[in-house]
Amino acid sequence: MSETPIPASSQAWSQYWSAGRLSSCPGPDDSNYQGEMAACWHDFFKLRPVRSRVLDIACGNGALLLLVRQFAEQQQAQWLLHGVDRAAVQVIAQLRDADARMLSGIDMHELPYANGSFDVVCSQYGIEYGRFPDNLHEAMRVLKSGGSFQFIVHDADSTIAQRVQLQLQQIDLLQMQWQLFDKLHNMLETELTKDFSRMKQRFDEAAGAAFNYMRDAQRQAQDISLIEQTLQQLGGIWQLRGQHGLESSLTACTQAQLATQSLARRLLDQQQAMLDRQQVDDWLQFLRSYDAASTLQALHSGGHALGWVLRGNDRI
Ligand SMILES: C[S@@+](CC[C@H](N)C(=O)[O-])C[C@H]1O[C@@H](n2cnc3c(N)ncnc32)[C@H](O)[C@@H]1O
Repeated sequence: MSETPIPASSQAWSQYWSAGRLSSCPGPDDSNYQGEMAACWHDFFKLRPVRSRVLDIACGNGALLLLVRQFAEQQQAQWLLHGVDRAAVQVIAQLRDADARMLSGIDMHELPYANGSFDVVCSQYGIEYGRFPDNLHEAMRVLKSGGSFQFIVHDADSTIAQRVQLQLQQIDLLQMQWQLFDKLHNMLETELTKDFSRMKQRFDEAAGAAFNYMRDAQRQAQDISLIEQTLQQLGGIWQLRGQHGLESSLTACTQAQLATQSLARRLLDQQQAMLDRQQVDDWLQFLRSYDAASTLQALHSGGHALGWVLRGNDRI
């Protein structure tokens, strides 16, 4: 029997989580979800019974589970925490000794749990990465009858959606338009041949175009951080050649290009997971067949949209 291949997006997420990051949309210093987001989870969890089995769908490295664990301590609750993700995730240190079980390689459309296994099913920027309505159907299958759920999902009008789009545009310029990684690679490879000066000229022209673009974009206060970082990185790779030789600079160039491709794969996955008003209304209608009183709320912070909150069976 042939095994299902791991989707490219899951490989990209696995790489992201392997660096030990806490969440997919971290605050400063890779801190956990804060402010309105954390408050929204707190409002939901403060009503949950003292003994509950909780499932976090598409849990990543456990950012939400960590929040829930902190609430459990505050409320002296004994919640058994489970998390699943299709990518390879890491159990962060703060969760290792807790009652938390995180499973990698689990597709949310085929959860390895019996019907009605959980009192609470939740997800933070996770369940919308699945296929509607199979994702919700499976989540509701493993939820006990009358069990509570809350999903905070991406909003197509959010600052996250805008950032994703801007970063994808920058990657497109770096890789497709200027082809900076390929040109640096060619230049390094041909250093000892007669073609070198031609290759160097091509790289310099492309880097010049990138600098001009940055200058114009800066005037319009446009986000060009990724281009800026990449140009610095490429400069570092070129210097590496002088210090550690050609092989290490070629390896570094290939790695930098692969890392950018992996970032692009993740960003595309995020872009596809953004829900507009019509889509989220469809989700709400679907969830209302499980709990007629399910609610939808737009989550904001300082005038910026953070996501949609879908909640059901929000009773003690
Ligand atoms: C934006 S991240 C969010 C992770 C985490 N909830 C957080 O807030 O940090 C989206 C996650 O969805 C996972 N994912 C995407 N498709 C999935 C699927 N079909 N089944 C399970 N997990 C999936 C990805 O691997 C990734 O870890």
